[in-house]
Amino acid sequence: MHNRHGAIGVFDSGVGGLTVVRQLEARLPSESVIYLGDTARVPYGTKSPETVIRYAESCARLLLERDIKLLVVACNTASAFAIDALRERLDVPVLGVIDPGAQAAVRTTQRGRIGVIGTVGTIQSERYRDAIHDQNPDLVVFSQPCPLFVPLAEEGWLTGEVPESVATTYLGPLLAENIDTLVLGCTHYPLLKDTIAKVAGDAVTLVDSAEETALVVEHSLDAMDLRCDHPLIPQFRFLVSDAPANFEKVGAHFLGHVMTEAEWVDV
Ligand code: DGL
Repeated sequence: MHNRHGAIGVFDSGVGGLTVVRQLEARLPSESVIYLGDTARVPYGTKSPETVIRYAESCARLLLERDIKLLVVACNTASAFAIDALRERLDVPVLGVIDPGAQAAVRTTQRGRIGVIGTVGTIQSERYRDAIHDQNPDLVVFSQPCPLFVPLAEEGWLTGEVPESVATTYLGPLLAENIDTLVLGCTHYPLLKDTIAKVAGDAVTLVDSAEETALVVEHSLDAMDLRCDHPLIPQFRFLVSDAPANFEKVGAHFLGHVMTEAEWVDV
């Protein structure tokens, strides 16, 4: 049985998963979080499933050594490729970001036409499509990889001519299919929400997987009786496999505030 006062372990290929930590902080203010950004091996979105599984397992094991009560795979690509292997191999409850986003899309769509955007790996895996069809096979899913959104988000190019032009090119084929719901299936995309919403127009509702994941984490902690009920000040620790100073600088935009010092770890 895991300790109710243990931290929630969260990992991602780099800074992107901090959008999930931001939502966890807002929704579950008494919970402690240990975050690992695998900055030495980012990006995951262009790697093979086998490699992503190997990286994800090493990240997860490193967090498990720190006595976490729940593991959140805060990376869409790692959730797409590695969630089954992690659930099979690890002795801790594991939650990903894909099922929460898919569930929200199914709840949101009015006309049954859903768009999904993500990394090349996430889109090729078809995990969002499968998760949506598990709930309702009649819904139609259109997918589009948007790899340039990742560097734009990390560079802070969030609005203006360049991101709008990139978004117009990527979203064009989905909008031509008359989607009414669009899943932001990559941890970086919430930063570009304003631009994506502007290009997608009022007829399309955006689903933020990070927000939905925090909701599912809350329900899961309650269901497993693992919610921290102690009035201690929550602890936040940030671990990285490379370049802590850069992680702190770029990551602050994803987290929404300055973070405590990031520590280097050997993955
Ligand atoms: N965090 C990754 C994801 O959500 C995007 C960055 C990467 O390719 O590693 O899929």
